[in-house]
Amino acid sequence: MQSTGCNGVSWLRKCVLQAARRNYAASVNVTPAGSTGKEEQHLPPATPTKSLEKMRGWQMHSYGDIDELLLSDNLKTPQIRSSNECLVRVRTTAVNPIDLAMLRGYGATVLNKLRCQPGGGIEFPLTLGREFCGELVQKGMAVTSEALKLGARVWGVVPVHASPGAHAEYVAVPSYCLAPAPKLLDDSEAASVLYAGLTAWSGLYITGGLGGVCGATTSAGGGAHKRVLVLGGSGGVGTLAIQILKSQGAQVLATCSENAVEMVRGLGADFVVDYKNSEAMDELCKYAPYDIVLDCAGHGGAHAADLKFDYRQYITFSSPLLANIDQQGLGLGAIKNMVDLVQTNVKSLTQRGGLVKWGFFNPAPHGIAFLQQLVRQRKLTPLIDSSFGFEDMPKAFERMKCGHLRGKIVVKL
Ligand SMILES: NC(=O)c1ccc[n+]([C@@H]2O[C@H](COP(=O)([O-])OP(=O)(O)OC[C@H]3O[C@@H](n4cnc5c(N)ncnc54)[C@H](OP(=O)(O)O)[C@@H]3O)[C@@H](O)[C@H]2O)c1
Repeated sequence: MQSTGCNGVSWLRKCVLQAARRNYAASVNVTPAGSTGKEEQHLPPATPTKSLEKMRGWQMHSYGDIDELLLSDNLKTPQIRSSNECLVRVRTTAVNPIDLAMLRGYGATVLNKLRCQPGGGIEFPLTLGREFCGELVQKGMAVTSEALKLGARVWGVVPVHASPGAHAEYVAVPSYCLAPAPKLLDDSEAASVLYAGLTAWSGLYITGGLGGVCGATTSAGGGAHKRVLVLGGSGGVGTLAIQILKSQGAQVLATCSENAVEMVRGLGADFVVDYKNSEAMDELCKYAPYDIVLDCAGHGGAHAADLKFDYRQYITFSSPLLANIDQQGLGLGAIKNMVDLVQTNVKSLTQRGGLVKWGFFNPAPHGIAFLQQLVRQRKLTPLIDSSFGFEDMPKAFERMKCGHLRGKIVVKL
C-alpha cells in the first residue's frame, strides 16, 4: 500500500510538472536543446529556464569611441520572440567596419526606426556584432528544417538593425539568417564569411545582376567571361569578392596596397595593381571596359567619375544613404540621397558611359546557400587578419580602426 501510495503521489506530481512544463514550452513556442520537434508536444524542455539566464556580452550605452564598449556578465539572454527564430550559443564572432561605424552612431536614425517598432527593442544598450558561428540551442516551433537540428553547428548573420547582436554568449536570429556551418571551416573561419560574403554576393548578383535573374533569385551565381575590377581586393569584402568571381569563371582585376599584391594574386586575381603606384590608372585602362567596377575600398560613388576608363556599372558599398538621413533627417535625407544618386549617375554616364549603384549586405538564404556551396567545393577560403579573445573585444575594434586589413578580424568566446 505504502508503495502504491507513493507511486500515486509521484505519478500525480509528474503529471502536474509535465503540464506546467508543456505550458511553459507553449508560452515561448520553442524547441529547446535536448528535445526534438516531435517530443516537444509531449515532453518538457530539458532546460526550460535557459532563456531566462544571464549571459556575458559587450554593450554600449551611448555612441562614441571604443571606450563605450562595456563587458557585462549580467546581460539577459535573448529570448526567441517568434516561432521562426532560433537561439544560438556563440563560439566565434567577427568585427566588421559596420560595428565601428555603429559604435560612432552611424545609421542611428534609420536603424533605430527599424529597431524601435512597437513591441520591438530600444536604442540602448546596444550589443553589436553581425556574424557568428555557434551551436543551435533553441528554436521556434515553425523551424522545421532538417538542417537546423538542435545542437547543430551553425553559421549565421544578424540583420543590421537587430540588437542584441553576436558580440555576446547568445544571439537570437530569424532562421533564414542561419545554416549549418561548413565542415571544411573551423569556428573562426566560419564566423568570418557571411557578412562580407553576403555583401559581395549581393553587390554582384542583386545590385549588379551579374548572373541575370537566376543569379539574383537563386544560388546559381554566374558571370563567366565577365570582366570585373575589384577596388580594395585585400579587405574582408574584397578577398571574398575575388574568390566568388573566379569561381564563376569571371576575369578579375584588383587593386590593393603593394604589400598585399602577392596575397591578392594568390586568391586568383588575374591582374593586380598597387593603387599607390603612379601608373596604376594607366595599367587599369589597358583592360577596360569593365562590366563591373566593385568598390570595396570605401571610395563611394563620387569616385566613379574620377576613373579614366569605361565601365558598365560602378557598384559601391559606401553609399551616403544612412549618413545623409543621420545628418538631414528622414525627409530631407531621402531627398539628398536621390539628388546624390542622380548627380553621380549623370557624371558617370556622360563621362564613362556607366551607371553608379549602391550595394548592400543582404541576408538572403540563397546567398548563404551560394557561399556554402563554394566553401564545399573548396573555391572559397576566408582569410583571417587577426584573432582576439572575447575579453579583448576593444583590441579587436582597435585593429579595425587601424585599417589596412588583410581579411577578417575574429573574436573567440
Ligand atoms: N553597404 C554595406 O552593406 C556594406 C557591407 C560591408 C562593408 N561595407 C563597406 O565596404 C567597404 C569594404 O568593407 P571591408 O569589410 O572589406 O573593409 P576592410 O576589411 O577594412 O577592407 C578595406 C580594404 O581596402 C583597402 N584599401 C584602402 N584604400 C584603398 C584604395 N584607395 N584602393 C584599394 N584598396 C584600398 C584596405 O587596405 P590598405 O589600406 O592597406 O590599402 C583594406 O584592405 C568598407 O567601406 C565598408 O564600410 C558596406
